[in-house]
Amino acid sequence: MQINSLKLFHFRNFIEESVSFSGGVNLLTGSNGQGKTNLVEAISFVSSGRSFRTARLADLVLSGSRSGSAFASISHHQTDLDLGIVIERGKKTGYINGEPVKTLADYAGKLLTVAFSPSDLEIVKGAPFERRRLLDRHISELRPGMIIDYAAYGRAVKSKNALLSRGNAGRESIMPWNEIIAEHAVRIVNARQEFVRALGARAARIHSAFAAADGELQLNYKSAFAEAGTAAEKEHILRVLELEFSREVERGSCAVGPHRDDMQISIGGKDARVFASQGQTRSVVMALKLAVIELLENAAGETPVILLDDVDSELDAARSAALFSLIAERQSQVLITATEPRLLEIFGAQRCALFSVESGHVKPI
Ligand SMILES: Nc1ncnc2c1ncn2[C@@H]1O[C@H](COP(=O)(O)OP(=O)(O)OP(=O)(O)O)[C@@H](O)[C@H]1O
Ligand SMILES: [Mg+2]
Repeated sequence: MQINSLKLFHFRNFIEESVSFSGGVNLLTGSNGQGKTNLVEAISFVSSGRSFRTARLADLVLSGSRSGSAFASISHHQTDLDLGIVIERGKKTGYINGEPVKTLADYAGKLLTVAFSPSDLEIVKGAPFERRRLLDRHISELRPGMIIDYAAYGRAVKSKNALLSRGNAGRESIMPWNEIIAEHAVRIVNARQEFVRALGARAARIHSAFAAADGELQLNYKSAFAEAGTAAEKEHILRVLELEFSREVERGSCAVGPHRDDMQISIGGKDARVFASQGQTRSVVMALKLAVIELLENAAGETPVILLDDVDSELDAARSAALFSLIAERQSQVLITATEPRLLEIFGAQRCALFSVESGHVKPI
């Protein structure tokens, strides 16, 4: 899988810009604040419909402008596709070959990317939301139909919250929402459990290849709707929701479910969120992302595009070399941003296409 070119219009600090990429390693260099992260963000946005650094669509549009867009021409299973998203009046519309798509479920999975950025340390150190987001993003790529379950579940929780927040909700008014919640939650919990199992096995193997000294990496999905290691069942979920009724009325919101579940990450038997050092955290994130790449590769029969934003600046020499050699082995298309072009040596100048990013303009050098 590869991105042949990218066209941005009023996206972040890009007014109107087109750039063609090489199928190998693309190194994007430039001083601080020039648009390197914005460019990588645009590609990730075209691939998933989401930004890796903001939940507000308006942030992605050039300040002062009402609409913006990002389009990529890609090669996918030997066919060329034109994919893109237009943001207008706070809404996004996906396009495939010039035709608008009805939902992002039709769009997801066409361009697979895996991005590493400094904010990914939050996957280990941040709130459970960060880990759920990682799982859900990749589950949606592997099984685009799940997007419908996530959306329906989210809507049901919102409606039930609205009822609960009034403080006098009765069982009869809550029950129909519990039905809908259980119907989608069972699929979400089982998809997450399955994904975490597959991810965990791969991540542990990759982690031990360059960070064995930190101890074994283990992932466990923690759900209020399923016992560890057993699949969720709708009847069981309904019983749990029934037992939570009084507590939910008291809190005025949905107390349990996939929207509050978590994935526990441990290294050497210790909770990484609490115990992992900066370098250990980075290594766990690297192992998780490389494991995601393997899973996507197996499912899609094509290797995802790897996006590395500013990773070099965060790593010590040994682990940095280990990461880049693992990546170089993969023969994937890679886009790397850095303030200095010194990574050129690791990948070899003949394999690297070099670009400069300056004030929202990208030029090959
Ligand atoms: N919606 C927007 N409209 C216009 N400019 C924006 C918008 N969002 C961000 N910017 C600007 O884009 C510029 C480039 O940001 P970006 O994060 O891509 O920099 P960078 O090249 O990655 O820098 P660094 O090396 O510091 O990470 C910043 O000056 C920022 O103010
Ligand atoms: Mg940046």
